[in-house]
Amino acid sequence: MHDTVVRDLDRARSRTLHLTDLDEPILVAQHDPLMSPLVWDLAHIGQQEELWLLRGGDVGRPGMLAPEVDSLYDAFKHPRAKRPSLPLLPPVEARAYDREVRGRVLDVIERTPADDLFTAGMVVQHEEQHDETMFATLQLRQGPPVLLERRALPPGRPVDPARVFVAGGPFRLGVDAADEPFALDNERPAHQVDVGPFWIGRVPVTNRQWREFMADGGYERSELWSPRGWAHRAEARLDRPMFWTAEGTRRRFGMEEEVPPDDPVQHVCYFEADAFARWSGARLPTEIEWEKACAWDPAAQARRKWPWGTAAPTEDLANLGGLGLRPAPVGAYPDGASAYGAEQMIGDVWEWTSSDFGPWPGFTPMIYRDYSQPFFGGDYKVLRGGSWAVAPTTIRPSFRNWDHPVRRQIFTGVRLAWDA
Ligand SMILES: [Fe+2]
Repeated sequence: MHDTVVRDLDRARSRTLHLTDLDEPILVAQHDPLMSPLVWDLAHIGQQEELWLLRGGDVGRPGMLAPEVDSLYDAFKHPRAKRPSLPLLPPVEARAYDREVRGRVLDVIERTPADDLFTAGMVVQHEEQHDETMFATLQLRQGPPVLLERRALPPGRPVDPARVFVAGGPFRLGVDAADEPFALDNERPAHQVDVGPFWIGRVPVTNRQWREFMADGGYERSELWSPRGWAHRAEARLDRPMFWTAEGTRRRFGMEEEVPPDDPVQHVCYFEADAFARWSGARLPTEIEWEKACAWDPAAQARRKWPWGTAAPTEDLANLGGLGLRPAPVGAYPDGASAYGAEQMIGDVWEWTSSDFGPWPGFTPMIYRDYSQPFFGGDYKVLRGGSWAVAPTTIRPSFRNWDHPVRRQIFTGVRLAWDA
């Protein structure tokens, strides 16, 4: 367990340093009001690691930074839009601070009993989540490309039939520490739920399908939209996915390119996903349906650790880790299929569900008490499955992400569902 945690901390840090190996002006600039300057993320990663692993989560306990500097990195105190005007640590000092924290943390971990490593696993996931956020920041940034390393992705293949059937009946939703020691509070506890039969898309919705929706007046027909979605469409002037151009191309990490027809559509908000589903004669899955289609093995009457089984993710099973810089074409991962035959549920794009974010029965907050709880019952929709930019440590069939229904700068896509 110690080796795993130390390895995962190390991998997270490599990713952080790779993503912030940039000229200072790029690191200190705010590239979008929704996002922090990258240099804020950089020091916040170390500040949270220090808080949870060296200060027992108690901000009152003296830390390595002066209190007025430490508090700059409290996400609840400083909204993102205000972060560039703060006297943040410059990149060189932020890196040195992160390194200093990590050295002390490794000493502490060595002395920590194996069954007490949850907080360290939580810190790994926190850093990896910020790495994904930094990918989103770099996608929003204007200017020539800076992320030049791009891993080749496997080719797609025709997928037929386009949907898979999930028979009705109970399954085990969520996980316990025994199944997933590093699962976060909102994924627990495991409990049985009964789900009616449904169909779900074998793969996510593609750019080609999205073009058909646009050509058929998808953005102009109010009957396809929820009232709130229609109002938002007008106000935000939505007429195509974010980063698509009027010329029919898309901008991706500083490049302009053809929109690949067989890639999952990316950068659409919940309201667009919902309208697309209505246009298709479908609906969005609930998050419970999604998790059943992803993790349940009806023959074994048991959950799988991953949709495909117990093997850790590899480049042949799922598109994770960020080096691809995009979702893979549909059909690229036949070996990654779930027991029901659904593919690309892990990685590629976060999938909007129709579910509001709330606790599972018996919810207990973890040491980071404000990770989930303040957001329950708010204006958030649950997203599942992770994107190409998430790390394998930070995604599981039980993992729950949430965001406002208008958001589309994250790597979001759509999977359809149908009543049976
Ligand atoms: Fe954070």
